[in-house]
Amino acid sequence: MVRQRNIINSLSPYIPGKPIDEVQREQGIDRVIKMASNENPLGNSPLASKAVEEWAKNMAQYPDGNSTRLKENLSRALGVESDQLLLGSGTDQILEYIAETYINPEDNSIMGHPSFPRYETVVKVMDGEVIRIPLTANHCLDLNAFLANINHRTKVIWICNPNNPTGTIITDSEQRAFLNKVPKDVLVVLDEAYYEYASGGDYPESIKYLNDYPNLLILRTFSKVYGLAGLRIGYAISNRDTIGYINRVRGPFNTNTAAQIAAIASLGDEAFVRRSIKTNIEGREYLYAAFKNLGLKFIPTYANFLMVKVNLPSDKVFRSLLKKGVIIRSGDIFGMDDWIRVTIGTMEENKFFIHALNEVIHER
Ligand SMILES: Cc1ncc(COP(=O)(O)O)c(C=O)c1O
Repeated sequence: MVRQRNIINSLSPYIPGKPIDEVQREQGIDRVIKMASNENPLGNSPLASKAVEEWAKNMAQYPDGNSTRLKENLSRALGVESDQLLLGSGTDQILEYIAETYINPEDNSIMGHPSFPRYETVVKVMDGEVIRIPLTANHCLDLNAFLANINHRTKVIWICNPNNPTGTIITDSEQRAFLNKVPKDVLVVLDEAYYEYASGGDYPESIKYLNDYPNLLILRTFSKVYGLAGLRIGYAISNRDTIGYINRVRGPFNTNTAAQIAAIASLGDEAFVRRSIKTNIEGREYLYAAFKNLGLKFIPTYANFLMVKVNLPSDKVFRSLLKKGVIIRSGDIFGMDDWIRVTIGTMEENKFFIHALNEVIHER
């Protein structure tokens, strides 16, 4: 056997949400709904499907390695220059690129806990030190504790906004005050995977800060509101120097043609995005009311998922719901042992879930 690097012994593989067909097979049931991976329950824009079908007639050529057309479209939509953008095979891939570009073995990196688990892995893979900051009593990222933990070895700070799994946000004024205090040689990554759901009100419009804070990088994705999770496409927005450095580690054809053209088509379908956000709001309000009816505490959310306290071991609830054809996320993987995380679905899915949950919590 070839000996693996030491750090590999401390890593565990990412546990993805269970696929529907696997649950159908395992449980021997036909009706299975997935409310586990924060996907869009409405699917994706028909314009994206049409573009991919057309392209699929001839797949022989390599993709445009620079994603030129997609960058042009994004640049217009966001009001930034094309060279301020970098595309990735999902934002997941960009997380890796960021760590590869910035983390040396002597560096540390600060993140919330629980927060998106991949931050921790990408830092560790580069032999960097992970500093986990527990959430506040209100389940929010504790920015004061982030600041208190910055030292001369700190290189990258990960702000998940809204935070996955809690759905809570950092407000515009909190973010500005934080950015003012972070040293300019520390990269602040604002992971806005759920931006479209959270946008409005107190939620920051971070792009306007790019000029004043050269140490800022924003991440967004086509996996969530645009419903393209299966194609893998996300992007980073920053200043051209930062993007230029990260571009040096990027593979030549890291995003595929289907993903690029589907993303372009999706940007042109604002009606689909509006419908998706409306479905999410209606679903969220329905679930809030249903949880109140069941006497269950929940964390109000700014995203397309939410956490509810089931007052039973979360893994048991996960397995019981699975038997009834509902896939959710068990809170124990986030260190929240009697909570579950559920993705907001269509109204029909939400009702199916609540019916199943009601049975599960009264089965004891
Ligand atoms: C906070 C956060 N960041 C990043 C990602 C990864 O998204 P992508 O599909 O773009 O890789 C997710 C996906 O669940 C997420 O919740």
